[in-house]
Amino acid sequence: MKIVTAVAPVNIAVIKYWGKRDETLILPINDSISATLSLEHMCAKTSIVCSPDLTETKFWLNGELQPTDSKRFQNCLREIKKLVNPNLEYLSWNLSICSENNFPTAAGLASSAAGYACLVYALAKIYEINGNISSIARMGSGSACRSIFGGWVRWQMGNTTDGSDSLAVQIAPETHWPEMRVLVLVVNDKTKTYSSTSGMKTSVETSTLLKHRAANIVPQRTKEMITAIKNKDYKTFAKLTMQDSNQFHAVCLDTYPPCFYLNDTSRAIIELIHFYNQNKGETKVAYTFDAGPNACLYLLEKDVAEVIAMINYVFPPTSLKSDYFKGDTVPSKKLDEVSLK
Ligand code: ADP
Ligand code: DP6
Ligand code: CO
Repeated sequence: MKIVTAVAPVNIAVIKYWGKRDETLILPINDSISATLSLEHMCAKTSIVCSPDLTETKFWLNGELQPTDSKRFQNCLREIKKLVNPNLEYLSWNLSICSENNFPTAAGLASSAAGYACLVYALAKIYEINGNISSIARMGSGSACRSIFGGWVRWQMGNTTDGSDSLAVQIAPETHWPEMRVLVLVVNDKTKTYSSTSGMKTSVETSTLLKHRAANIVPQRTKEMITAIKNKDYKTFAKLTMQDSNQFHAVCLDTYPPCFYLNDTSRAIIELIHFYNQNKGETKVAYTFDAGPNACLYLLEKDVAEVIAMINYVFPPTSLKSDYFKGDTVPSKKLDEVSLK
């Protein structure tokens, strides 16, 4: 019997991946850039047992049995097995896989990124594979290819049809910008109404703004973002991050039927941050939202205490959770409860 446990962190994109040119290989229509968070906080933890006594391969996520015939799971397993020495005696043994996230799953906080990076990494350990497994993680969930690396990571879209050049590369290590911090504001920890996968598929099929973004905006923005990160130019970094998040959500609105990932609380956070930056006379905080209502704030260590105090003042701790604890501090969130749940 063999047992392995692995942990992988989430990554939060500052240039968003949204749209595939190949659904099976998971090849994107634009480059994306993210930072991988440190291992102490938001992580997936996956344990795998490989034993001749197991009668079938099973996979539990957060305590619930998952189907193992899903295309993504099977693709990852098949690609990993291609790299294994065929004489390895336990290659044919079944697996018992157990994964848990220590943060909300499928709520727009990059659980698929941490989850598939962790699964593929744990599989590679079980089968004693060395080498770059990022492209295999990509076949589980696109964003997962970036969580294989620490620090600042670019997923180059590539332009081949076989995906051989669609790769994640580190643009700066985790030590590069040690003052950078991420604050995660959980507005709602419930599973989103439409997954990233289905949302982006509809966007590709229907949004003309998506095509404009991929062709005319992201290539230049990616270059500017890399320069801003390399120069530790917070002001430019923050502006590009907020603009890209806003454009991604504009694409969601341009999708038909539209996907509403942001809610009234998300929009109140956006307004608050612009108000705060304006009042400070300089950019202190940048927000970004993935496919969900929860905010990720990129800011520098020196500003963390004041920003937390400001957030706690405007959204008293119970109010940010009032979306799901039926609180009543912010009236707009009651509307949210009525309209979305
Ligand atoms: P998110 O915004 O959280 O990434 P997605 O809609 O992109 O949400 O993906 C959610 C899906 O990712 C889950 O339904 C599940 O299939 C997969 N996933 C999440 N966590 C894990 C994990 N720890 N291991 C394997 N798969 C996971
Ligand atoms: C908004 O990687 O979750 O978080 O490849 O279909 O699994 P699939 O989608 P996923 O999409 C992430 C979208 C995003 C932006 C990003 O992380 O770049
Ligand atoms: Co995801």
